[in-house]
Amino acid sequence: MAEAQKSQESQVSQQAAPKSAEELTAAVLDQVNAAGPRVQELLTALIRHLHAFAAETRPTAREWRYGLDFLARTGEFCTPGRHEFILLSDLLGLSALTNALANPGPEQMTPSTVEGPFHNEAPPRELGAIIATGPEWERGEWTVLHGTIRDTGGAPVGGATIDFWQADDLGHYDVQEPQRAGNLRGLMTVAPDGGYWVRTVKPISYSVPVDGTGGELLRALNRQPMRPAHIHAEVRAPGFRTLTTHLFVAGDEYLGSDAAWGVRDGLAVEFARNHDQAAIERFAMPGPFYDVSYDFVLVRQ
Ligand code: BEZ
Ligand code: FE
Repeated sequence: MAEAQKSQESQVSQQAAPKSAEELTAAVLDQVNAAGPRVQELLTALIRHLHAFAAETRPTAREWRYGLDFLARTGEFCTPGRHEFILLSDLLGLSALTNALANPGPEQMTPSTVEGPFHNEAPPRELGAIIATGPEWERGEWTVLHGTIRDTGGAPVGGATIDFWQADDLGHYDVQEPQRAGNLRGLMTVAPDGGYWVRTVKPISYSVPVDGTGGELLRALNRQPMRPAHIHAEVRAPGFRTLTTHLFVAGDEYLGSDAAWGVRDGLAVEFARNHDQAAIERFAMPGPFYDVSYDFVLVRQ
């Protein structure tokens, strides 16, 4: 007889009925017998905290069923372009917490922050490409984002890739309008000297999706749904920890109340108006533009 089956059978014959809530929790914990130590740790802590939640709040049957149905409905809102569970994790501050705990580092590094639910495969583009390929480019909120990828000692990091994604000047992502797939996204390889530049439009603050269970949660919490304007970036380089972050528009009115808890010190950057003709020509811009200079600083693995 296989060992796992033997162990399950002995549990069936030896299990005494728990007499109290505490005994039930202890019995459930006692039978966690996971394949590896990490899964054992995660499942044990999960059960302990879920039981503690139930013991503290004593939900009625109706409340408990509401919670389970809420999770079922969350699943129904998920599509290949929309992940409602990520949104819930973001709105509860859990994404920000796990992200911060998983990405410690020296003061010089660019802080990482939440990925959010809208990251998708980006089309590869040349350095300097215009990633705003829809009508938003004609609306004229032209922006150049440029800088260097560096290590924490200040040395340039060649061979890195940057994956950019953002909402447009009306606050919409391409995944919310499927005919625009790939718009405002771009995967670029930086120059050998670590330099990068990209042409785009200035984003605005926008509401997270509120038509699903994320919206239901925000209304229950009585929290506002807006995110401060930002551009997402994921920077990868061999030998370095992958950096997932945002650049926020300095001065945005929602920097202090981000629905997704993603704002970190050092991530708000100036979108400075640049009217200089030489700069307009150097970056091949149609006219005055928002000039954003930012060096991403990576931590060695
Ligand atoms: C985003 O920035 O794309 C995002 C992050 C968290 C929740 C919703 C959207
Ligand atoms: Fe975003």
